[in-house]
Amino acid sequence: MPQPAIAETVTDLRATVRAWKREGLSVGMVPTMGALHEGHVSLMKLALEKADRCVVSIFVNPAQFAPTEDLDKYPRQLAKDLTCLADAGVHLAFTPSAAEMYPAGFASKVSVGGPSAGLETDFRPHFFDGVATVVTKLFLQTAPDLAVFGEKDYQQLCVVRQLCRDLDIPVEIIGAPTVRDAHGLAMSSRNAYLDEAGLAVARQLNKILRGAAAAIAKNGDADGETVRARRAIQQAGFEGVDYVAARDALTLGEWQLGREGRLLAAGWLGKTRLIDNVEIPT
Ligand code: PAF
Repeated sequence: MPQPAIAETVTDLRATVRAWKREGLSVGMVPTMGALHEGHVSLMKLALEKADRCVVSIFVNPAQFAPTEDLDKYPRQLAKDLTCLADAGVHLAFTPSAAEMYPAGFASKVSVGGPSAGLETDFRPHFFDGVATVVTKLFLQTAPDLAVFGEKDYQQLCVVRQLCRDLDIPVEIIGAPTVRDAHGLAMSSRNAYLDEAGLAVARQLNKILRGAAAAIAKNGDADGETVRARRAIQQAGFEGVDYVAARDALTLGEWQLGREGRLLAAGWLGKTRLIDNVEIPT
């Protein structure tokens, strides 16, 4: 398996991408925070299908963590991640330091409206500014033709689409379906925090959401079904539920019967926060 080239600086990243573009090659990007799993591999495969070259960034972005969150604890496993990139056939890993991304004196941020309102923002108000800022930087640094994001982070996907539309960033954003284990649990780097008992509870989340989404499609009672789903998630063993919400799949505004919808949820198992979402069938 050929190893991916590694760029630790923006200068090196740009030099490699510029050389590819001179050869007429298209470039796909998958932004990640590392701790790579099958979900990330599916994004890389899609990028490799759609573009001639694939860049994966690995950067645990401090700007999207609040001081109380798991930045220090977030899993870091660069050697293992590089093996994963080699196996997937990725061409370049961009692994900048925090100082490369946010040098002393850094004082800007990108803030996206629209789909960033509510849901995650109600509980992590700093989050989407941090994501939008780093994604804008990654796109300006890499200048990819396309970038792939997972539907697992559905609100993030909508925010990144809005960002590129609003700021005329010429990167095609491709959403990739959530990869799940045999029990339907969405792949997430944070699953690594869970023991067997925690995993058994976590695996209930997607089942409850799928049941609630089917019921909403049938009876149109989004309010009643989200209340019932919240109760079921708590009864399954989640200690806290931040939200269960039925939203318009495109705008993330209020969902209305007959429109494409998405049922989104976030909950806590001990100190681990898990999110998931499913389609509301039309
Ligand atoms: O989804 C993630 O892993 C991160 O939010 C992203 C898009 C890489 C930005 O840091």
